[in-house]
Amino acid sequence: MGFTSKIQKPIIRWLEDNRGLVVLFFCLPASFVFDLILRFKVWVQRSLSNVPETHQQRVAEIQKQVARWNKEDSRQRKLLCTSRPNWLSLSLTFFPKDNCHKVPINLYNILELDEKNLTVKVEPMVTVGEITKYLIPKGYTLAVTLEIADATLGGLAMGVGMTTYSHKVGLYQEAIRSYEVILGDGSLVTATRDNDLSDLYYALPWSHGSLGFLTALDLDIVPVKPYVHMRYIPVKGQKKYCDTIRELSGANDKDRELDDFIEATIYSKDEAVVMVGNFADAPPIVHWGKINNLARWFKPWFYCHVKTFLEKGESEEYIPLRQYLLRHNRSIFWVVEDMIPFGNEPWFRYLFGWLLPPKPAFLKFTTTPGIRAMTFTKQVFQDIVLPINKLEEQINISEKLFDTYPVLVYPCRVYDHGDHMGQLRKPRPDQMVPGANYGMFNDLGVYGVPGPVKRKEKYDAVKKMRAMEKFTRDVGGYPFLYADIFMTRQEFEEMFDLNLYEKVRRKYHAEGAFPHLFDKVRPEIDVFEVGKQYIDPL
Ligand SMILES: Cc1cc2nc3c(=O)[nH]c(=O)nc-3n(C[C@H](O)[C@H](O)[C@H](O)COP(=O)(O)OP(=O)(O)OC[C@H]3O[C@@H](n4cnc5c(N)ncnc54)[C@H](O)[C@@H]3O)c2cc1C
Ligand SMILES: *[C@@H]1O[C@H](CO)[C@@H](O)[C@H](O)[C@H]1NC(C)=O
Ligand SMILES: *[C@@H]1O[C@H](CO)[C@@H](O)[C@H](O)[C@H]1NC(C)=O
Ligand SMILES: *[C@@H]1O[C@H](CO)[C@@H](O)[C@H](O)[C@H]1NC(C)=O
Repeated sequence: MGFTSKIQKPIIRWLEDNRGLVVLFFCLPASFVFDLILRFKVWVQRSLSNVPETHQQRVAEIQKQVARWNKEDSRQRKLLCTSRPNWLSLSLTFFPKDNCHKVPINLYNILELDEKNLTVKVEPMVTVGEITKYLIPKGYTLAVTLEIADATLGGLAMGVGMTTYSHKVGLYQEAIRSYEVILGDGSLVTATRDNDLSDLYYALPWSHGSLGFLTALDLDIVPVKPYVHMRYIPVKGQKKYCDTIRELSGANDKDRELDDFIEATIYSKDEAVVMVGNFADAPPIVHWGKINNLARWFKPWFYCHVKTFLEKGESEEYIPLRQYLLRHNRSIFWVVEDMIPFGNEPWFRYLFGWLLPPKPAFLKFTTTPGIRAMTFTKQVFQDIVLPINKLEEQINISEKLFDTYPVLVYPCRVYDHGDHMGQLRKPRPDQMVPGANYGMFNDLGVYGVPGPVKRKEKYDAVKKMRAMEKFTRDVGGYPFLYADIFMTRQEFEEMFDLNLYEKVRRKYHAEGAFPHLFDKVRPEIDVFEVGKQYIDPL
């Protein structure tokens, strides 16, 4: 392997040890310029197709392309996928799109706001940043949104999304009223919970574009107020903070009066800060000191700010809504710390804070196969949906396998839809909230460089990841599929229920037209082979 040769090893080692400087003097400026160019391109692209009235016309254009593909020789044609380049998507894998027949989906418009029914109709390429900018001044936000401005509403619908509001409403898919989809035969259909295509409706989430091309979505919105009143509750002791999170999220009591937002950041096995937020009007003048404009470039990173309450004790603040929603944006949760260890120092924030975050698209664009192979073995990046009654075990096993903090917890309902669970399985009886039709789960977010890698010890990433996946299967959880998976196909099918999915694939002409879900989401590299080469420290 060239990477570990005698000359390269010390160079890589030096670059690793001084990565903060490399990132500051190369990565950030390049990322900034890259982003400017990208924005200009997107602006041009969107201006050209930015006409909500022509939605039907543009969809018909895509249908035509699928129809043309259908006329090709079925033994020679490639499977269908969207032409969106891999590096633009937030998924961590690099699905080899060149092996597919690529169809451009130029659908960037917000189509219609329905204030009576509280829904908004959008095209799939609208981003979280754009929809919040559009909705918040009108007094709304999506019922389930995301912290990352670059995520697309269609990408979230075909994968999964969850947020700090999900303890009230569940996963992103619960907030979708209808999907408009082009099927493998070129026909255009709309699937809702209770029309003839409800089977398709329930199979589309977690399908990752393997059932059809999404062309529009109806999403639930909720009325908002201009601020979020945040209460920071530091808690010492594992059982105590886990109990606090369960209590506040309503896991013990379906009739509990719920706060609008809940999140916990765990800083060590025994310390966490639980945050509850509620929509609020602007505070009276005497409390203006409590307003925190935390998105400003010179402000401390959010998780660092939150950590200070472990010392300072319980506290409260008012955060402007959009700034609350994008609170993790500048430090990409705590991922940027591993790139720029001094990034939260005041001198850096005041001078260069405005350059953050490095754009995910830039990072992906510049990822060579060599870097990709090395990074997946030296980092962990996982969001996993797990039952909240196992929260202590989740944290213990995460520490045992990855030894990295902070760890993120967002509580989330998983509804029991009976025979309509789609790819998820019914929550188990002990996971259900007593008397309710949902179980309480949580997203466990583990992002960062594992302890052993930091300490330059041996670290077998594949073994650790597979152990985490086994735990996840055993307790009835699911990793988000935008991140790398290390399961065999058999293990994948033990975790996800593909019965409805396979039926829907046959019934709606996806078989032979779109890649299978497993092929779509599994890493494009042979993780088992690559994993073996990078167990030893550099
Ligand atoms: C730093 C980071 C933080 C994150 N934080 C969170 C978080 O807090 N909460 C959370 O829920 N998630 C989080 N995610 C994950 C995020 O939800 C996923 O990356 C999600 O897939 C959205 O990304 P995207 O819009 O780039 O979608 P893509 O990755 O582009 O798309 C997702 C899938 O849908 C398919 N697809 C997209 N558009 C269409 C279409 N029109 N027709 C058919 N198929 C389509 C794609 O082929 C792909 O398989 C995070 C990801 C990152 C990188
Ligand atoms: C609300 O939605 C229903 C069904 O989805 C629809 O029939 C009705 O016209 C909508 N109401 C308004 C005001 O648009
Ligand atoms: C959030 O970060 C992204 C890059 O990841 C950037 O494009 C976007 O402008 C940021 N949004 C805000 C509101 O800071
Ligand atoms: C988690 O770890 C702590 C301390 O190491 C231990 O006391 C506790 O019993 C563990 N909890 C579970 C559920 O395994």
